[in-house]
Amino acid sequence: MSSYLEDKTKFFKKSILTWYKSNKREFSWRNTKNPWKILLIEVIAQQTQIERADTYYKKFIKTYPTPKHMATSKYIEVQRLWSGLGYNNRAKRLFEASKIINELGFNKLYPNFNKLPGVGEYTKNALLSFAYDEKVLTRDTNINRILKRYFGSDLEQYSQHQLEDILFKNVISRDLNQSLMDLGSIICSSKNPKCDLCPLETRCSKYYMKESRLKVEKFSGSNRELRGQIINLLIETPKLNKNIIKKILNVEINNLDKALIGLEKDGLLSINKNNVVSINSE
Ligand code: ADE
Repeated sequence: MSSYLEDKTKFFKKSILTWYKSNKREFSWRNTKNPWKILLIEVIAQQTQIERADTYYKKFIKTYPTPKHMATSKYIEVQRLWSGLGYNNRAKRLFEASKIINELGFNKLYPNFNKLPGVGEYTKNALLSFAYDEKVLTRDTNINRILKRYFGSDLEQYSQHQLEDILFKNVISRDLNQSLMDLGSIICSSKNPKCDLCPLETRCSKYYMKESRLKVEKFSGSNRELRGQIINLLIETPKLNKNIIKKILNVEINNLDKALIGLEKDGLLSINKNNVVSINSE
């Protein structure tokens, strides 16, 4: 392992974890180690936008607080609660999994959760990381995209094991995985990534590739910093009056207008006629 790559990896994890402290999305299931709760949200979240998945999760955990509650109910009830999520075979497999878990318990199944119906490599790793603190990457398409963009061809030098060894050293597994999920959805999105707000920008391979660099508009230091501050504010409070933003950030109105107009032009936020600024979530 070259010291260059090791250093690049350390920068990666440190920058993401720092970014996560002030940008993390709050969900009740993010702070639990209960494997049933984690299984529920991960199965519901497959192919479903996370805010919508969260609404369904709340209904499910209320009706089925334990695997036993689901295992001893009727499938038709589970399907009814699932209605609107699509892909009904996911509900069916969840129902079947609840019966196996009710019989054996999670600890007997550990660590081979992929033996459960509907549980693939990703969901197994999510259970291992979030419920058991195991140092495994929950590699889904979002996390793969970030890794490919940041490491570029350097990624080929790494085995999964080597990468995990460095990434998770002295790190809480769930924090690193969830910070990557948030970065992938808020900043390093597949279309129109917001590279100018990304904590990895200065060392990202993709950013420094000529073609993608041309697409990234460069800003003067202060305007760029102000843009980042505005977005950070709106991630916490999705709608804010312009005057309140001005007060919180203590900036000149001309500078604020310039940053807001730029952000609106880039599709990151909208400003209505009453000067209410709202973040665009997609
Ligand atoms: N999508 C699927 N699982 C998620 C999680 N734990 N956090 C954020 N987004 C997710």
